[in-house]
Amino acid sequence: MAKWLDNAVFYEIYPQSFHDTNADGIGDLQGIIEKLDYIKELGCNALWLNPCFTSPFGDAGYDVADYYTIAPRYGTNADAKRLFEEVHKRDMHILLDLVPGHTSVEHKWFKESMKAEKNEFTDRYVWTDSVWESPEDMASIRGISDRDGACAVNFFSMQPALNYGYYKPEKSWQQSVDAPGPKATLEEMKNVMRFWLTMGCDGFRVDMAGSLVKNDEDGKGTIGLWKKVRSFLDEEFPDAAMVSEWGEPDKSLQGGFHMDFLLHFGPSHYNDLFRCEYPYFTREGKGDISQFVAKYLENYEKSEKKGLICIPSGNHDMDRLARTLDQEEMKVAFAFLLSMPGAPFIYYGDEIGMRYVEGLTSVEGGFNRTGSRSPMQWDNSVNAGFSAAPSEKLYIRQDEDQDRPTVQKQMQDENSLFNEVRKLIRVRQSCKALQSKGEIEFVCVKENAYPFAYVRSCEGERILVVINPSGRDESFSFDGKNGETIYVLGRKAELKDGVVSAPAASVSFIRL
Ligand code: NOJ
Repeated sequence: MAKWLDNAVFYEIYPQSFHDTNADGIGDLQGIIEKLDYIKELGCNALWLNPCFTSPFGDAGYDVADYYTIAPRYGTNADAKRLFEEVHKRDMHILLDLVPGHTSVEHKWFKESMKAEKNEFTDRYVWTDSVWESPEDMASIRGISDRDGACAVNFFSMQPALNYGYYKPEKSWQQSVDAPGPKATLEEMKNVMRFWLTMGCDGFRVDMAGSLVKNDEDGKGTIGLWKKVRSFLDEEFPDAAMVSEWGEPDKSLQGGFHMDFLLHFGPSHYNDLFRCEYPYFTREGKGDISQFVAKYLENYEKSEKKGLICIPSGNHDMDRLARTLDQEEMKVAFAFLLSMPGAPFIYYGDEIGMRYVEGLTSVEGGFNRTGSRSPMQWDNSVNAGFSAAPSEKLYIRQDEDQDRPTVQKQMQDENSLFNEVRKLIRVRQSCKALQSKGEIEFVCVKENAYPFAYVRSCEGERILVVINPSGRDESFSFDGKNGETIYVLGRKAELKDGVVSAPAASVSFIRL
């Protein structure tokens, strides 16, 4: 695993919405380059960029039409190369978004595969033998090709599924993972990776990584596929970092991913933290973190420390944190996110508490996700400094509230969320125990109760993290000696006579 992952703190950039430098109302790569110093100032040292390849943007770029070209609205391949260089100059790293599961219907592979005559791309997608037969368990594209058959879709109706084969083929049209078609698809995806890694990116976030091999209930076929990718990378790009959108680290890490996300779907109970009827991280104090911890521990043990379990603040598919938590509650949430093992991922704008913009019509396949994708709020100038275009040209409407948070305001305010997040990242970077690979032992987790606490440790350094998001003072028994408090939010926790006090709405990091 690349050494830099040991203390990586990621920042997710949704390129459409970050910074527009050519006044067309949409963000671009040059805009990202201009804001790298800001990201560095926050303390993040790694980036994940959502898809920036040629696309009709029916799903915000997750419908790729050409894996080898930057979408003109963002710039050129030369701009991407420059971005990688600028990132590296600042001792940072960057992951691109790889979408191996499907393409856009506009991809030339798909157009070729729709033809009646057999050609190189006939088996690049999952097709049945007859237009009257749909692939079971999956929606399909039917009746738009000369070819007789229905093509499985992986997500939206215009995202045909690339063919990596079936774990247990049962029908005549279901190919095995070793058949020539599936093998060629994987080879081409390796070429895509080779292309961008050679140009200088540091790895990939992999979209729907667990979805590639079909009829693969336990994920065995897909794990096997990713193992092949792992050997290819080990051989040609040993430092390339890979994070999966899978949400089941026990599987993805076996497949050779270095990191996997806990997400709003899947078995992780991630939603219990910030996004459910009673989130654990609200002062109301009606939440429960015990199932999250139980599942976390199960994954932690099953993954045998082969890789990192990453907990994001949010992403382009989820509601903004600020939809359920207020600024003070978000500080507590970030103290948790930035003191857990694995690499933390901060979704752009979460560090200033950007809000979910209510009432938007869907843009580029965003639907209810659109409100979490609005343009970044930098300062008090026109369009909050995002773009010099007329406001009605912005591709997604911004938060129009007079009081909307901006980077400028938050940087000036000592008590802002931005400054708290910045401080927390600095604390994390100064203690190995708090970084990616420091061990974790939960020392206080109660069902439907507060506080909760864990000890992070590495090479003899031990740090007790006491978190009480609720509005009530709480305490718990703990066998240990008091030490120096290295971080405190709210009132300080005290460890005395085997009892730790955990004041309402507070967090303390105590060196034991
Ligand atoms: C997951 C991505 O995060 C999401 O935005 C996208 O719509 C689907 N995968 C389909 O690619």
